[in-house]
Amino acid sequence: MELVFCTGNSHKLSEVANILGDDFSFLTLTDIGYYDEIPEPYNTLEENSLAKAQQVYKQTGKDCFAEDTGLFIEALNGEPGVFSARYAGQSSDSLRNIEKVLEKLKGHKNRAAYFKTIITLMIKGMIVQFSGQCNGMISERTSGVKGFGYDPIFIPEGSEKSFAEQSPEEKNAVSHRRKAFDAMSKYLHTLNS
Ligand code: IMP
Repeated sequence: MELVFCTGNSHKLSEVANILGDDFSFLTLTDIGYYDEIPEPYNTLEENSLAKAQQVYKQTGKDCFAEDTGLFIEALNGEPGVFSARYAGQSSDSLRNIEKVLEKLKGHKNRAAYFKTIITLMIKGMIVQFSGQCNGMISERTSGVKGFGYDPIFIPEGSEKSFAEQSPEEKNAVSHRRKAFDAMSKYLHTLNS
């Protein structure tokens, strides 16, 4: 089975390779020589991940999967949510995004938040979506240098360390991405059996 992962994000590539291990291998967009931009114009993770997978499928004819992820903060009515990448402006700058979150949460006691990932898989003419969620809280300040995006301010439930203080194995054991990709993996196994 040859599947293309529709992302240009090197952090996501390495996390997903680590999560899937020997279970399933995938091709990257670079592997297949695909360099077009893939926009995320919609207001839901479901629509954005579907649009990404459909764009690559339509242009290459290859079975593929795409994921879209957002950080949803309770006290901010779900912000930044689907707009997580460009919360502080078009440049997609993680440090500025984090600063904006911390600023907006100043004085808030409720720090509850969750990451959510939606994967769209296009395979054998079918479209299937999988979801994964990781609950946690937003810290008062950044800590740790591992991971990417909002990891330095997200403390997953059951831990005292932020994702950015955890090893890749620790993050991948409980993450939103882990849960979504486990669901996809299970589905692919049923297709193969
Ligand atoms: P997208 O799925 O590439 O649109 O990512 C949305 C935003 O969420 C980007 O700013 C990412 O850096 C951030 N993000 C996505 N996944 C994670 C994660 O696992 N940890 C921290 N930030 C993430």
